[in-house]
Order: sequence, then structure tokens, then C-alpha cells
Amino acid sequence: MITLISGTNRTNSWTGKVVDVYKSRLRLKGVKFESLDLRDLPLDIMKIDMYKKRSDKFLAVENEFLIPAKKFIFIMPEYNGSYPGILKLMLDISDIEKCYFYKKAVLVGVSSGRAGNVRGMDDLTNVLNYLRIDVSYLKIPISRVSEQFDEKGEFISDETILLFDQQINLLVNM
Ligand SMILES: Cc1cc2nc3c(=O)[nH]c(=O)nc-3n(C[C@H](O)[C@H](O)[C@H](O)COP(=O)(O)O)c2cc1C
Repeated sequence: MITLISGTNRTNSWTGKVVDVYKSRLRLKGVKFESLDLRDLPLDIMKIDMYKKRSDKFLAVENEFLIPAKKFIFIMPEYNGSYPGILKLMLDISDIEKCYFYKKAVLVGVSSGRAGNVRGMDDLTNVLNYLRIDVSYLKIPISRVSEQFDEKGEFISDETILLFDQQINLLVNM
């Protein structure tokens, strides 16, 4: 199973719009996937004993989206030069052996600035490698994200679509 993770809990995020484009490419290629939007993480995850005792609602997230996944697609914005804290929080409170060990991942970075979250993708690569996940060499930075959509909200970067398709092919064959 493949799980696509939308790596922010910000409402109306540009990341969410990029995720929708990526999902449409997966569907076009007939690749089955599940989708976890970090806006849907349970609100009770952040508590003093969160590293020891996962809430029942978070256990349900693990069971539905993380444990059965063999491969992950992480699409995440650049917040203060890296990936969002909510994503690290999810990694930190997970049962890491069951959720992540010896799995595969591809990464897409999103930013309003020029960097396209390159640093965030590198940071996440380090963490995922620590979690024994193989990360694909093909990382896709999307900089100046609002300029990648026209006034009707259509994604206009054919170059990026091509990269999404390449990345999906790589993921399927990883
Ligand atoms: C907390 C926070 C920190 C941010 N830090 C950066 C940054 O370091 N570099 C950058 O280019 N954009 C930064 N941005 C802007 C985001 O890249 C921008 O909102 C972009 O649309 C992707 O985020 P989104 O998916 O939440 O919309 C930041 C946004 C937020 C909310």
C-alpha cells in the first residue's frame, strides 16, 4: 500500500492544492493509494505522556494509514527553512518500527520562496533514513507555488507534471 501524506495542518494550504494535482496523476496512472492529511490528525496527540501512550484516535491513524503502508509520498511546505513541526510530531509519537522501518519514500517540497523546501526535504531525508526508510533521489522542489497555478486554479507547470509522473514511476518500482 502507498500512503500520500499532506504534510501540514494549515487550512487552505498551497500544499493541499499540490497534493490534489499529485493525486490526479496517481489516478491517471491507475496507482492505488491512501491519503493522510495532517489536518485530520486527532487533536489529543499533544499531551505530556504522548511519547509513551498514544491516544486511541492516533492508534487508529497508525492502523489505517501508517502501519499497512509499504511506501510513502510526503508532500510538505517549507516553514522556517524546513518541514512543518506537525510532521515531525507525528513521526516522533508513532510506533516507529511498525510504521516506518524498512519502507520507501518519495518527497515533494512546496514554498512561496525560491527554495522549494529543498532544505526541508534534506532534513526529512535524514530523519527518514534514521527511521530506516529508503528515500528516492528524485526530490521535487516547487518554489513560488502560487505562480504554478493560473487564476482558475489550474496547475500550469507541465515540467512539474512530468517530474510527478517520473517520481510515481520510481515509487512504483522501488
Ligand atoms: C509558519 C510558516 C513558516 C514559513 N516559512 C517559510 C520559509 O521559510 N520559506 C518560504 O519560502 N516560505 C515560508 N512560508 C510560506 C510557505 O512556504 C507558503 O505558505 C507556501 O504557500 C507553502 O505553505 P502552505 O502549504 O502552508 O501554503 C512559511 C509559512 C508558514 C505558515
